[in-house]
Amino acid sequence: MKQESHVKREGFSSSIGVIAAVLGSAVGLGNIWKFPYVTGANGGAAFILVYLLCLALVGLPVMLSEHLIGRNTKSNAVGAFKKIEPRRPWFLVGGAGVLSAFLIMAFYTCVAGWVYAYIFKSASGVLLTNKPQETTQVFNSLVSGVGEPLFWQVVVLLLTGAIIMAGVTKGIERVTKVLMPLLFILLIVIDVRSLSLPGAAAGLSFLFKPDFSKITVSAVLAALGLAFFKLSVGMGAMITYGSYVDKSENLPKMAVKVALSDTLVSLMAGIAIFPAVFAFGFKPDAGPKLLFIIIPTVFNSMPLGRIFMVLFFILTAIAATGAMLSLLEVPIAYLTEQYQWSRRNATLLTILGIGLIGSTATLSNSILSKVLIFGKTFFDFYDFATSNVLLPLGGIFIALFVGWQWGYANVKREMTNEGQLANEGLFQVYRVLVRYLVPIAVAIVLLAGLNVIHF
Ligand code: TRP
Repeated sequence: MKQESHVKREGFSSSIGVIAAVLGSAVGLGNIWKFPYVTGANGGAAFILVYLLCLALVGLPVMLSEHLIGRNTKSNAVGAFKKIEPRRPWFLVGGAGVLSAFLIMAFYTCVAGWVYAYIFKSASGVLLTNKPQETTQVFNSLVSGVGEPLFWQVVVLLLTGAIIMAGVTKGIERVTKVLMPLLFILLIVIDVRSLSLPGAAAGLSFLFKPDFSKITVSAVLAALGLAFFKLSVGMGAMITYGSYVDKSENLPKMAVKVALSDTLVSLMAGIAIFPAVFAFGFKPDAGPKLLFIIIPTVFNSMPLGRIFMVLFFILTAIAATGAMLSLLEVPIAYLTEQYQWSRRNATLLTILGIGLIGSTATLSNSILSKVLIFGKTFFDFYDFATSNVLLPLGGIFIALFVGWQWGYANVKREMTNEGQLANEGLFQVYRVLVRYLVPIAVAIVLLAGLNVIHF
């Protein structure tokens, strides 16, 4: 079946551009905001080990699967399934992905808004203190407002929308290529500072000395969900980015590189945060506000602390923006290819939709705080429903699709670049993972984590 779209398809222009964009999608608030607070809430090192296991055995094969599907079909998340299997409803997996993009963006743009706001707050000097009450106070007054957090959320949406409208090569690729290295360097600076705090050792042992009594079933689901969220997999973002990747790229190698670099950035964020948590008497399980109340204390007594703090939030904002581009691109590619919308209209409609849903997440810290869905605020619900339900579910179906539907020879041809790469052994391992381990393990963790089955 031939399903050509009217517009010529753009793509990433170089290998380095591909890595930058895919890594730009993976690295984001997930590393700098979510990884530390989820690790903190689940007891530290033991959780990290479970997370790494989920990353290697589940996240990585699902990422590769998405790239294979995307590159093979050169299609958006929905169109890709339709191209390979037009007679069965696999495209619903892509459809669920488009929906997930909206729900993730709903809370992601809210947090990104806080980060944008913190650029200005750190410049003003109000944050340069190591008193827990004071940094907590600044954070609370921001998020419990109405106009201020909404304003920043809108700024985030407009800026991200503008980059997306500029296109894949000139927008996504150009922005991510320059900024990723800068973020990395700044994290090194902060790590050095954090490690030199008196009492840093307690933070390190929290991060690296496992205590397995902390591992509960819901902690395992949280680790699995975090692995999906971190690698941007389970909802078709990597199908969409994969569709812009050249036939000559070595996809398995790229997935491994991305997963390793992403993990490094997460651990570096952990090293930036946990020593200060213990040095200044905060609690590691402070939840979503952890980053915002801890980071100021790291910079407080450091030479040029104010400048470094501004820089830190600028780079976090950029990392968040790179990640949001990949989320936005999912509905945009879907609307432009399946319905021939213009890129401009697709972007405008998408950010409008996200703005509407997202405002409920933002206001759930103030006027909507009493509105609960399944016992959770809007913000927590969007977060939980995507990371801990929709992404793992998407992962199961993507693995099943590649493992059981697409066909041995077809998958192999795509993974070996038509036989040019000698990765037969790797292919066999991958095949076992997507056929058996990923669907079965994820299903068990999902059902147990949601209390459907009990051990
Ligand atoms: N991985 C990003 C982060 O860690 C978030 C993200 C971007 C994402 N695109 C995604 C999560 C697609 C799930 C699916 O911040």
